[in-house]
Amino acid sequence: MQFSILERWRIWRDRKLASPEFQRWAADFPLTRWEASRRARGLFDITAGFVYSQILYACVELDVFNRLAAGSQTAAELAEHMGMSITAADRLLRAAVAIDLLERRGEHGYGLGRLGIALPGNPGIAAMVKHHRMLYHDLYDPLALFRGELGETELSRYWSYACSPNPAADDDQRVAEYSTLMSASSGFVAEDALDAYSLREHRCLMDVGGGEGRFLMQVAQRYSDLKLMLFDLPAVVERAATHFGDVGLAQRIQVHGGNLKTDALPKGADVISLVRVILDHNDDGALHILRAVRMALPPGGTLLVIEPMSETPGAEPVGDAYFGLYLLAMGSGRTRPPRELNAMLTAAGFDEMHMVRTRRPLQTRLIVARVAKH
Ligand SMILES: C[S@@+](CC[C@H](N)C(=O)[O-])C[C@H]1O[C@@H](n2cnc3c(N)ncnc32)[C@H](O)[C@@H]1O
Repeated sequence: MQFSILERWRIWRDRKLASPEFQRWAADFPLTRWEASRRARGLFDITAGFVYSQILYACVELDVFNRLAAGSQTAAELAEHMGMSITAADRLLRAAVAIDLLERRGEHGYGLGRLGIALPGNPGIAAMVKHHRMLYHDLYDPLALFRGELGETELSRYWSYACSPNPAADDDQRVAEYSTLMSASSGFVAEDALDAYSLREHRCLMDVGGGEGRFLMQVAQRYSDLKLMLFDLPAVVERAATHFGDVGLAQRIQVHGGNLKTDALPKGADVISLVRVILDHNDDGALHILRAVRMALPPGGTLLVIEPMSETPGAEPVGDAYFGLYLLAMGSGRTRPPRELNAMLTAAGFDEMHMVRTRRPLQTRLIVARVAKH
């Protein structure tokens, strides 16, 4: 291959930077020492990341964070609860301190650390961590995963709609686990999206792929006059209907069961939300859904696409590394950068798109797309 001058310079530079002599020099020299050690630490953290995840998993599974939320405990106290020797407990707790999940309190005590403090108040994080057991299993041989040699994966079984030719036939048993996980993890997503975009100008909202209806329940609390509709697979909306009944919303929220890929969406809403839906689908499926939404909206109607996106400044590993491999293991979908979503929205017949800033773009970004008035 013929390289340009710029590329030849890059090859020279990369060889220089990679040489042990240069690395030793950079680690010693006062002006480069900090950057050299930051890079070495960054590479080590990637190399060891799977170990850190397992420390977190063990603490979540053993309910360490919830116990420590009530006050610090010693290794001996925790060991008894965790069903292991004090020596083993001490090793796990020290490991958790080292990665900021816990902190030392006094000579023998342990309490919640800088990162672990978020766990007791957010059961959704613990639920996510626990279900990562399946992703961990599917990533056991990443080359086989990339080459498509794994066949059915744990995650493709879990997300039963991902690879099913007829997800509308799934029963409660197939949808219960993922629907519960989505509900548990949707609180912040809904809060951040609703703080970023006001629904005051709208008359009726339909949440498409709305799961057990947590997003609509949060909407219902904020907007007492807005009409509400939910569309999801039949077995999922049945679960939602039960929850709506439990909290006195059965009369206010209309539920519609169906298959997004084959059924037309009900009309009547002037705003439709797709929360963490488009990323689940390959390009043809995603475009089909956007077209179905476009058909269901009146002139001047609005679509809210709410999900984590690729190339999010400051959260690049979330979209492309984490979701990239997660969705590969699930067998369907990909995160997309806003420009690609905008292009798909245009292809689906939307006329005007803009991004709205959200509080935590790492997990929630928001594109508002409108249908022309005439
Ligand atoms: C990742 S979940 C998101 C749920 C919810 N919006 C949230 O953020 O918590 C995707 C949702 O899309 C629904 N879904 C997937 N394929 C579907 C299809 N073909 N027809 C109807 N709903 C579908 C699933 O049942 C699930 O509730």
